[in-house]
Amino acid sequence: MKLTVTTALATSAILSVSAFQPNIRCSRVSSRAVRLTSQADDTDATLDRRTFFASIVQKAAVASLVLTSSPSAIDVANAADVFPKVYKPAANSMNGKLVVITGGNTGLGLESVKRLAAAGATVVLTSRDAGKGRKAVDEVTTYLDANGVQGGKVMAANLDLCDLDNVKTFNNRLKEIIGDKKVDVLMNNAGVMAIPDLTLTKDGYEKTFQTNHLGHFALTATIMPLLASNARIINVSSLGYQFAGKGLELDNLNGEKQYGPWSSYGLSKLENILFTNELQKRAQQSDKWSGLTAFSLHPGAVQTDLARYLIGEEKFNSMKENGFSSWTDKLVMESMAKFIKTVEEGASTQVYLAAADNITPSMAGKFFDNGKVEKVNGFATDDEKAKELWAVSEKLSGVQFKL
Ligand SMILES: NC(=O)c1ccc[n+]([C@@H]2O[C@H](COP(=O)([O-])OP(=O)(O)OC[C@H]3O[C@@H](n4cnc5c(N)ncnc54)[C@H](OP(=O)(O)O)[C@@H]3O)[C@@H](O)[C@H]2O)c1
Repeated sequence: MKLTVTTALATSAILSVSAFQPNIRCSRVSSRAVRLTSQADDTDATLDRRTFFASIVQKAAVASLVLTSSPSAIDVANAADVFPKVYKPAANSMNGKLVVITGGNTGLGLESVKRLAAAGATVVLTSRDAGKGRKAVDEVTTYLDANGVQGGKVMAANLDLCDLDNVKTFNNRLKEIIGDKKVDVLMNNAGVMAIPDLTLTKDGYEKTFQTNHLGHFALTATIMPLLASNARIINVSSLGYQFAGKGLELDNLNGEKQYGPWSSYGLSKLENILFTNELQKRAQQSDKWSGLTAFSLHPGAVQTDLARYLIGEEKFNSMKENGFSSWTDKLVMESMAKFIKTVEEGASTQVYLAAADNITPSMAGKFFDNGKVEKVNGFATDDEKAKELWAVSEKLSGVQFKL
């Protein structure tokens, strides 16, 4: 329990609060919670990791207390009318399907691999570390064996989204694995969150921007020739996009004007949505790709290792081993636990979008939460900004879409 809540409290500082925000009837509560977290960007940038983490814990504690006093939040947390809390595609329903999942070695990606392979799909999981990739394949294989699955297969391929050369050659590595088979589902799932300080990749771009958006943009463009014409492209976003409250700032994509751990995450998750919108629009206008469907989604606030970027991997692992020592940690643990989804629950929306056979044309290009289309803020449906982001992304990545 203490392991999972370690993650929960850091992600919950922003994610569990925002996860329920649009649905909570008490808007004063959610806006206060949002204010608490967005202040982190302004005030915490100069703090060291330890202090930063402590301040996040306190903010999460306050936010969680605010939220636990709202019964409607609990209702929302339990709402799941599209599918039960955990969506499992039927056995054999994915037979013959080929799925590629980025960041498939852990968290929501790994869980998605398991569930789709268990339904019969062949899944290629990507990992930036070969050892982690092999370990994930072993874990999935054990899972499939334990569940008596015959059809599902899993393989790993290297992908580092922070290295555009690596991204641009991914299709060759994929081809070696899949041969002439076409990809039915591309799940752009990998991500980082709230990196404390501005960090540049080897390509010179801000790490959150490149990992969460630019790398996936380039990957999708490069992989297009390997996609089935009716492929589904699933971009794992977050309700954290709302932290880019000013909308897309094209002159601050790399934190040039101002860098904040949360605002940068929010911006990248907004980019996931705008990319989805524009991709769907362009696909519909193209003869070849009119059957392609793109989705973006919020998985919920989920107990994964995503918080390790916020507190540093070493400290994160040590907390995993030793647990919490302070009363604030305990407070957060006890009060937040009921709002945080398990990985099985959290992966359900993306697995549903990959596997469901009741997806209608009206759902194409939409943002999903708990398996349902969720209305997004106006700045996340800004067509002009989406078009500009597309052009800038092609320029920065050096990869052109052929749609
Ligand atoms: N957990 C939540 O509460 C939550 C809420 C909203 C949205 N999301 C979104 O859900 C997605 C999955 O997150 P998660 O919670 O499952 O996190 P996670 O457990 O930390 O998994 C993230 C995955 O991304 C991979 N990754 C990171 N940097 C990469 C890079 N440069 N190149 C390739 N892969 C890279 C990681 O690989 P390594 O293991 O090698 O680092 C890992 O496999 C993310 O897009 C996140 O924004 C999560």
